[in-house]
This record gives sequence, C-alpha cells and structure tokens, in this order.
Amino acid sequence: MPKDAIFNDAQRPAYDFKFNKEVATVFDDMVVRSVPYYVEMQRMIAELTKDFAVKGTNVYDLGCSTGTTMINLDKVLPEDIHFVGIDNSDEMLIKCQSNLKMAGVTRQVRYENQDLNTNVDLDNPSVVIFCLTLQFLRPLKREKILKQICESLPENGAVILIEKILTEHSIFNRLFIEHYYDFKKRNGYNEIEIAKKRESLENVLVPYKLSENEELLRNCGFRYTEVFFKWYNFTGLIAIK
Ligand SMILES: C[S@@+](CC[C@H](N)C(=O)[O-])C[C@H]1O[C@@H](n2cnc3c(N)ncnc32)[C@H](O)[C@@H]1O
Repeated sequence: MPKDAIFNDAQRPAYDFKFNKEVATVFDDMVVRSVPYYVEMQRMIAELTKDFAVKGTNVYDLGCSTGTTMINLDKVLPEDIHFVGIDNSDEMLIKCQSNLKMAGVTRQVRYENQDLNTNVDLDNPSVVIFCLTLQFLRPLKREKILKQICESLPENGAVILIEKILTEHSIFNRLFIEHYYDFKKRNGYNEIEIAKKRESLENVLVPYKLSENEELLRNCGFRYTEVFFKWYNFTGLIAIK
C-alpha cells in the first residue's frame, strides 16, 4: 500500500486540501493512520447496514473514496442488494472500481460522479452511508441533502453518519485535538505533517458539534438518532426515518 507522505515537505506551500490523484493513491494508508478505529468503524457500519438494508433495494455510499465500505458490505449483505458509490473525485472513483474488482466484488455496483453540494439522486435506497463525507460539504448545503435523503428513504430506512466533531464545551477542544495529534504521531506522522495537513483542511473540513449533527438529522425528518461510536473528536451516528 503506497505510504502517505504528502505533507512531509516543509517547503510545500499551503493549499486547500483536494481529493486528487495524489491523495487517491495514498488514501488507504492515510485513512487508517489518520482516523482512530477506522477499521472497527467500518466493521460497525457493515453490521448496522445489515440491520437496516432491505432486499431488492440500493445501499448508497456517499463520498465512497476508494471503496473500503462497499468491500466490507459485500461480505455481509445478500446479493440482491445493490450498491451505489458516489464521489465527485474521478481519481477516487477509478481507484474504488479497481479496489472492488481486486476484492472480488461481483454484485451490481454503480459508480456515480455527483457533487453532493448541488444535488443527489437516490433511487430505491434503504441505507445511506456518509463515512467522513458530510463534514466536507458546505454547511449551508447539509440540511438540503439530508432532507432529500430522508424523503427518498422508506419508513425505517437509515442514515449512517461518521464525522469529525467539535466538542460541546470549547475547553475540551484543545485537549481532544492534542490527544488526536498524539494518535497521529503514534502512527508515524511528524509535527510538520500534522501542522500542514491541519492548515490544508482548515477551510475544507468544517466540523459540527455532535448535538448540532443530531439536531440537523431530526430537523431533516429522522425520528431517532443514536450514537454508536465516539472517540474524542470523532463520532458515529445512526438515524432512522
Ligand atoms: C474522507 S473521504 C471519505 C472516506 C470514505 N467514505 C471511507 O469510508 O473511507 C471524503 C470523500 O468525499 C468526497 N467528497 C468531498 N466533497 C464531495 C462532494 N461535494 N460531492 C461528492 N463527494 C465529495 C471526496 O472526494 C472523498 O472521496
């Protein structure tokens, strides 16, 4: 797996983070070294999707990147549930397609390049997954897409949402972020890489508080929300229509 060393260059000028070819190439290494319990979260997403996915429907992976979620789902869901992977990065979609092929996924999968800031067309969904993607959408667009998703889902349809978050009380933010950076250091990132990536993500990844995400989901029509994962500044939520 190619190693992520994108920000290991003190001379590289600051720029806004993009999911381009350079990132797609190292993404699978980047994500496990940058997201605590990523592998466990993926396992939990698969379990929860299995609980709510309905035969003959589509499971949507919004911001599917390199396809890890769909590869895991393929192992636990019946063949007559089809997948739709949506991303607005062609480089990610290319990698996703080749990863699913390498993993031996044979079920029907549609790959769509759609900008989730503008619109999303969902056809017969039962579960919609946003794993670390909603945080990259413009804040003003988040309500619109979640309302659209809620309208498209049947009763008891589910949204699974993994997000980086802000703490409820600002005194904890600095502490949790320090502990998060220690996690990244333990995974081999140095101070320069951590600082440069933080700067690069500043205008691109806009986290909400957990309570704001819960309120957003309820305002968009979801009846129940429950936290299924929490580690400092990361959380996993499930919402049911
Ligand atoms: C952190 S990655 C998601 C990780 C992935 N879901 C996983 O489980 O490994 C965020 C993804 O969202 C995509 N993305 C960001 N903004 C988007 C937008 N406006 N429309 C569609 N996809 C978007 C990026 O291209 C990227 O692949």
